[in-house]
Parts: sequence; C-alpha cells; structure tokens
Amino acid sequence: MNVSEAVAQRRTIRGFRPDPVDPKLIRQIFSRAQQAPSNCNTQPWHMTVVSGQARQQLEQSLMQEIMSGKPPSPAFTPGDHNLQGIYRERQVDCAVRYYGVMGIGREDKQARNELMAKNWQFFGAPHAGFLCMPLDMGPVNAIDIGIYLQTLMLLFVEHGIDSCPQGALAFFPDPVREIGGIPEGMGIVCGISFGYADEEALINTVRMPRDELNRAVEFVE
Ligand SMILES: Cc1cc2nc3c(=O)[nH]c(=O)nc-3n(C[C@H](O)[C@H](O)[C@H](O)COP(=O)(O)O)c2cc1C
Repeated sequence: MNVSEAVAQRRTIRGFRPDPVDPKLIRQIFSRAQQAPSNCNTQPWHMTVVSGQARQQLEQSLMQEIMSGKPPSPAFTPGDHNLQGIYRERQVDCAVRYYGVMGIGREDKQARNELMAKNWQFFGAPHAGFLCMPLDMGPVNAIDIGIYLQTLMLLFVEHGIDSCPQGALAFFPDPVREIGGIPEGMGIVCGISFGYADEEALINTVRMPRDELNRAVEFVE
C-alpha cells in the first residue's frame, strides 16, 4: 500500500469488533509514529493507550461520570463550539449524515445522546489512546499533535487497523488521570479508538464528503 492509497482508504470507524490487535503490532506502529515531524523537534505528544482490563475499567468510570451529569472539563477549548458560516454548515451536515444513517431524527434527543455516549464506550473498540500535550502549549504546538494523529491513523490503515479520532475523549479527564494515564502538566487534546471494524455495523456506512479543491487551495503563478 502506498501513501495515497492509505489516505484514500482511511475513514472514521464507529463500530468495532472486540478482537484485540496484536500487542507487538501496536508497539511497532506507535514506534513508527514517533517519526512524525514537530516544530523544533519538540515532539510535544504523549499517548496513553488502554487495552484489556484497563480499557474496561476506564469505560465504566467514564460512563459513570456521564450518567452522574457531571459537566465536561476538557483541558483545551473544544474546536467545535460556536462555529459560524460554512464551518457551521459542514458541522450540521456531518451530524445529519451521522444520525441520518442510524435513522435518528434531529428532534430525538435521547437517541442522539445514546449515540453520543458510544464515544466513551470507544465504539466497542478494544483499544483507546488518549493524546496529550503540555498544558502551557497552544494552537501552534497542536499542529504537531494533529500531524502525529494522522501519521498514526495512516500507519493503522497500512496494517488493516481501523480507528476513530475523538475530541470527545478529552471531555472527562479525571478517570484517565486516575488510571495514571496523564503525565503531570499535560492535558488531553483528543483520543482515538482503534481495532478492527465491524463490517456489519450500520454506522460504518456513513460517508463524509470533502469540498472542491478550488475552494480549499488556490494555485498562484
Ligand atoms: C480531531 C478530531 C476529533 C474528532 N472527534 C470526534 C468525536 O469526538 N466523535 C466522533 O464520532 N468523531 C470524531 N471525529 C471524526 C470526524 O467526524 C471525521 O473525521 C469527519 O467527519 C470526516 O470523516 P472521515 O474521517 O470518515 O473522513 C473527529 C475527527 C478529528 C480529526
């Protein structure tokens, strides 16, 4: 598989089989992802990967937090609040496709909340990663985090592993801290669930379009 094929094949998966990925392969992929570039080679990422019992316990703790009605407390301001114009339109389109494929209408708040809650069940994935950066870093350093994330996702694709990047996994950091998963002075930027796609899952039939090239890139000569 070449890079173009990996980029074309990658998509967000939200329904996984429980089968774990070979731990050796996981280490190999994360080791290769260390090759991601960063500003002044600062490598500001720290990833905590939960599997097995730790993953089960964390899911339980996260669900308890949500059921208790505790408000989210992300370390960094989420990027999807108060979006305007075309960005809001795309956000709405994303939600319409996502809930639409599951037959959930705009007014059906309970069903939407239940689907949203699957974020903290890692969509059934056997592994979840929590991607952190130092709390005193800002948007420019977050570029490095994004590059790392995409590097990781493309490596996953190369090895037939599916993934779901999740801003939602930054919302409730306390249970992650409790399992010892966040180093001092760092905050979660986002998370990623990964494993093997459940090919039968309806949710995985959703497709997200991209805008035309000429609206995103201007070639000047
Ligand atoms: C940083 C980041 C955070 C995301 N957060 C979530 C999330 O919390 N829950 C979710 O279901 N999808 C999440 N997504 C997935 C996006 O909705 C998805 O990438 C987008 O709709 C494009 O679809 P595609 O990845 O299938 O091409 C996130 C993606 C990124 C890059």
